[in-house]
Amino acid sequence: MKKDSHIHWYPGHIAKAERQLKEKLNLCDVVIEVLDARIPFSSMYNNIKSLLGGKPRLILLNKADLTDKQELKLFIEKIKTDFDNPVMVTDAKNSKDLAPIVKKILELAEPKIQAQMAKGLLRRPARVMVVGMPNVGKSSIINKLTKASKTKVGAKAGVTRQQQWVRINKDIDLLDTPGIIPMRQDDQLAATKLAFVNSVSENAYDNETIAQELLNILSRKYEQQLKEYYNVDNLTLEDIAKSRNWIVSGSEPDIERTATFILKYFRDGKLGKFILDEIES
Ligand code: G4P
Repeated sequence: MKKDSHIHWYPGHIAKAERQLKEKLNLCDVVIEVLDARIPFSSMYNNIKSLLGGKPRLILLNKADLTDKQELKLFIEKIKTDFDNPVMVTDAKNSKDLAPIVKKILELAEPKIQAQMAKGLLRRPARVMVVGMPNVGKSSIINKLTKASKTKVGAKAGVTRQQQWVRINKDIDLLDTPGIIPMRQDDQLAATKLAFVNSVSENAYDNETIAQELLNILSRKYEQQLKEYYNVDNLTLEDIAKSRNWIVSGSEPDIERTATFILKYFRDGKLGKFILDEIES
């Protein structure tokens, strides 16, 4: 296991992911970009604008149930201002009603559909796809959107056979597989935060280093809350292990187990509701 603090990249995978993403994007009228609401900026793809080439983009801040709602509102405003895209908040694990998203998709697609009709083409359903980094909740959102209708509408011209479209209503076809956004290569801090939320393969980092980094970053905004949660004066793996009585070989703090639990509890929302990005980003 690697003991350095870096996230390790696999350039071959990134190039392939980007190629596949571009192919799918070409087929769509509207793109839904799913972000992890705990790291709204770090889970955003910095190259998305050039990839989309002007296509309408709806930003979903998913896993909102794991964040502080008041703090999240500030991020929503910031993203709306900075990116000039509609932003909606979702909790794809628990929410049943994604009707507002469906309504927004139609609104965003309408200008293109109208332009095609003006050229004499018949009205057709808007084509939509969901993109985002691994584990942000893309599949959960697709499942929720397609739950009501499982009508497969088959492959479209120029689409590989595996690409299936699902008709969610008479006006929307959704690609049933998401576009995976490649991991960021330019920003180690963003990559570290992606590791916290399980968007990075576990092989790419050392668990203990990442757990300690999580404590360090959480401490910037939520120090007191965490110290109370773990009943420690210092937010170190060692102190937390001792406080929890996670001990090996008689008296040694079990650092490995402590790191695993901290990451798991954070990911499950059991440590509290947090946003790890800074609004000034
Ligand atoms: P992906 O396609 O982007 O890779 O993500 P996917 O939908 O597979 O979701 C990844 C994990 O995140 C799943 O948990 C899913 O249940 C959970 N998830 C998705 N949306 C939300 C949300 O809004 N809030 C919360 N709290 N969790 C969400 P898992 O542990 O892999 O599986 P399971 O919990 O469904 O068993």
